[in-house]
Amino acid sequence: MSDETLSNLLTEDRRFEPPADLAAAANLTAEAYDRAAADPEGFWAEQADRLTWDTRWDQVLDWSNPPFSKWFVGGRLNAAYNCVDRHVEAGRGDKVAIHWIGEPAGDTRDITYAELKDEVSRAANALIDLGVATGDRVAIYLPMIPEAIVAMLACARIGAPHTVVFGGFSSDALASRLTDCQAKVVITADGGYRRGAASALKPAVDEARAKTAATGFEVEKVLVVRRTGQDLGEQGWDDAVDVWWHDVVDGASPEHTPEAFDAEHPLYVMYTSGTTGKPKGILHTTGGYLVGCAYTHWAVFDLKPETDVYWCTADVGWVTGHSYIVYGPLANGVTQVLYEGTPETPEKGRWWQIIEDLKVSIFYTAPTAIRSFMKQGREIPDRRDMSSLRILGSVGEPINPEAYVWYRHVIGGDRTPVVDTWWQTETGSIMISPLPGVTHGKPGSAMIPIPGVSAEVVDEEGTPVPNGSGGYLVLTQPWPSMLRTIWGDDQRYVDTYWSRFRKQGYYFAGDGSKKDSDGDLWVLGRVDDVMNVSGHRLSTTEIESALVSHPKVAEAAVVGAKDEDTGQAVCAFVILRDEFRDEADDAGEGSDIVAELRGHVRKEIGPIATPRQIMIVPELPKTRSGKIMRRLLRDVAEHREIGDVTTLADSSVMELISQGLSGGSSDD
Ligand code: PRX
Repeated sequence: MSDETLSNLLTEDRRFEPPADLAAAANLTAEAYDRAAADPEGFWAEQADRLTWDTRWDQVLDWSNPPFSKWFVGGRLNAAYNCVDRHVEAGRGDKVAIHWIGEPAGDTRDITYAELKDEVSRAANALIDLGVATGDRVAIYLPMIPEAIVAMLACARIGAPHTVVFGGFSSDALASRLTDCQAKVVITADGGYRRGAASALKPAVDEARAKTAATGFEVEKVLVVRRTGQDLGEQGWDDAVDVWWHDVVDGASPEHTPEAFDAEHPLYVMYTSGTTGKPKGILHTTGGYLVGCAYTHWAVFDLKPETDVYWCTADVGWVTGHSYIVYGPLANGVTQVLYEGTPETPEKGRWWQIIEDLKVSIFYTAPTAIRSFMKQGREIPDRRDMSSLRILGSVGEPINPEAYVWYRHVIGGDRTPVVDTWWQTETGSIMISPLPGVTHGKPGSAMIPIPGVSAEVVDEEGTPVPNGSGGYLVLTQPWPSMLRTIWGDDQRYVDTYWSRFRKQGYYFAGDGSKKDSDGDLWVLGRVDDVMNVSGHRLSTTEIESALVSHPKVAEAAVVGAKDEDTGQAVCAFVILRDEFRDEADDAGEGSDIVAELRGHVRKEIGPIATPRQIMIVPELPKTRSGKIMRRLLRDVAEHREIGDVTTLADSSVMELISQGLSGGSSDD
């Protein structure tokens, strides 16, 4: 076993300086790092002044009972007021808050801040009429339509914590979340549009209700938005429970006075899957969370709220949608794009068309999307004028250097910095990222913690590793948007995040990371994804990046499979770019393409990382948020029966992979 916690193998020499004009007018400059480090609480107090407080706080942080924090103690505020009303009061009511684009062509709505205020107030009044009181939980299960944002803000306005369940989740997933947080009301729609067709949502709510009822828990009301107009059938409507949104919201009063809540009042619960057991309900509270979202959205995207048009392609059902569609951007009063559908509908390039049409200047998406566009080829984005873009962001998983460079070059016309933002559902807002006007870009690296945040890479003992080494990523100081607990399970909160480095009092993120020779951070993915080859801990991400840097490769996933000689051996699953698809037909062991890729990894990283096996596949198994499910690939690599596929976005993918493999490739 080598001494290092995680081997540091891949090197990357490309650098991109911040554009001069951006640097000259940057929201944050280099001095902020030192200022924040010298007085973190003072720095966060300054950021808290971005919000409008009903009662100012007396104390920035109470950390007397770690790991349970209280931020902005004694402060009172209303999150919806901060996201909507205050912009109207400041005379910006006519500004567009949301350019909404439905998937069917021509189906659009522009919503101003004044209209949003009225709609949120109506929905708040309707929820109160349905019996929702402060502290009651409301579940939201909606497609990407404006009502999703309205519903979240209406809940925030009356102090009813929301739990948004991604519209692609099944009735089982919905039922377990409804039960766990005891949701009183569910807000849903008849359906939504995806890939050119209306897809139903309401029936899943009916099924979930039946499932929770069987365990003794009854949802009281279901509020239904009519989106597609599809037939719900005779069984599909229960007069005692179901109400139409247009019946109760449209006619409600647009006057609603927001009440100020304690800074620590629960804002929402977001479920995230754990490695084992039931999903964890991550609890975020009002003041600190909103400060974190508003500050990071302003600093990391160098936001100029007067002129920028912002677009984050995440679904509101994920934390990225919560922090960087709803709470951050709206607290900052920006104009943003909200798109209902998929990037390929009605044709490839829909996203680039939207950027051209609406002159989007800040664009935030995920590496998995970027790699799928690389696969299709650059002709598609090249058809559009995207010169309005000035900053690009990436989130959700490590971005391979090659995908980063493609993103910057093809989408950003080589003008735009790319901010690779590392954070988690638990952290609530961005923790590690370049600042676009300050930090040079280094493809594949999230660089260093933003001002106000303290991170480290440590070894098993919790000692910081030197530059050039790998280890565990930890956050060493509390931060305002940190999760406060796991809903209903304080002990699980302590055990999951704070027990590994209890002595030091560090938050353990569960990710592996390396510090390069400059001390910049490279997040290498979950430590569970690390493999051990002949005593070297190799990161799957590094080998994947090496594969993706080969011109024929679009995407790669690497897992460790048991090996008699080396403990574990590297097994790679590779998708070729569309132009090289022909080579996939004859891609078994010993084929040219497999030999070529093996040689490439050997050259890029070294013999230790050479894959024992490379399988050319048509697709990779991904969760609905785009993360590769390596567990299933490990099953394939180790010839086991394939495990639970219910959380896959497309459960037929594993069949495709197995079929492809029975065709050509075999073991060494
Ligand atoms: O493993 C890291 C990866 O995604 C995890 C958090 O996932 P989730 O809670 O679903 O939140 C996604 C949106 C923030 C992290 O523990 N991850 C996220 N961003 C990055 C990343 N890995 C590397 N680089 C990133 N920029």
